[in-house]
Amino acid sequence: NKFIVPPPRIVDREIVKPLLCGPGPCDYHPSVEKVLSKPVLSPICDEFFNVLDDIRAGLQYVFQTRSKLVLAMSGSGHSGMEAVISNLVGPGETLLIASRGIWDQRAFIIANRYGIKTEVVSVPLDVTFSPEQLEPKLKKLRPTALFITHGDSSTGTVQNLQGLGDLCHKYGTLLLVDTVVSLAGVPFFMDEWGIDGVYTSTQKVFSGPAGISPVAFSARAEAKIKSRKHDPPFYFDMKLLAPQWNCYGSTRTYHHTLSPPLFWALRCCLQEIAKETLPVSWARHAATTARFHKRLREYSFEFLIPKPEDRLATVTTVKLPKGYDYQEFVKYMRAKHNILIFAGLGPTVGKALRIGIMGVNSTTQVADSVAEAMADTLRALKKSSL
Ligand code: GLV
Repeated sequence: NKFIVPPPRIVDREIVKPLLCGPGPCDYHPSVEKVLSKPVLSPICDEFFNVLDDIRAGLQYVFQTRSKLVLAMSGSGHSGMEAVISNLVGPGETLLIASRGIWDQRAFIIANRYGIKTEVVSVPLDVTFSPEQLEPKLKKLRPTALFITHGDSSTGTVQNLQGLGDLCHKYGTLLLVDTVVSLAGVPFFMDEWGIDGVYTSTQKVFSGPAGISPVAFSARAEAKIKSRKHDPPFYFDMKLLAPQWNCYGSTRTYHHTLSPPLFWALRCCLQEIAKETLPVSWARHAATTARFHKRLREYSFEFLIPKPEDRLATVTTVKLPKGYDYQEFVKYMRAKHNILIFAGLGPTVGKALRIGIMGVNSTTQVADSVAEAMADTLRALKKSSL
């Protein structure tokens, strides 16, 4: 018998889906669930090209950019991170990394693998950067690019990006931004803020499936791509992806096979955001989170991030009183309330709970249910010695 591995017994599994209130993935829009079974299309037929055109128009809206080089990577948010870094910074060039959470640590690892010189400027995990903290490094190093995270899901902070583009450009530096957990949940203006390379993901505020990462590049970034001496990996190369996405008009080439369900889903997410409009979505996230925070304060929870203006509207981080175990708290929330929240990640391991109320879940009802479940969990897990 030449089959050394017999057919496995893959049985159906019962799944009790929790309310998804971690820092992602978020629940789907009901409309997204429906489009996931739309027809399979070939990536080189007109119907699919039309889907790509719709997606590019939607992305220009959510990023607030008139840039032409806007498309979506096949892959999770990390593919966007890798595409933005590898297209814009070559081996031997310098990437300055503004570090305050786990995502900049990933940028550091990725850049090192490409032979990029990395320099790090850090702040403690519970604050964000001021331009004064970044300018001396920009001035001294004149790096090819600065990497910074807008919303950081590991710490629950939001970085003010206004003025940062001008500051970077003063030193010949491109500004690269991670908006995975912030885009469409908090204000973001790519062109106005002078951002050169940006990526996001679909399983957060977009309320769609993970597996695609929208990216956008400024005119400055396009010029760098045209003049660069290095070749990024084939799968991430914007010079090859732009013709597949018809970024510059009348090119429809084949690069790789795109996943129809994921692209139908992204198109639908963008349709939902366009229907609601960005200012309404931003206001809804701000109001829901204000309500959630008020309820948390009533139950005596303590926020990890001291300054309210640094707190991200999509992910909240709270500290538990001494003696509580973060993992035990998360497990109880799931077992007793069927709500999924997360413990800390990267620099916040053992230091915070992370609760994501975003996208389709950003409602008063969800904010209240999660706060009440957290208050119950706090009571239930109180040890007699506490
Ligand atoms: C993932 O994005 C996380 O923040 O855990």
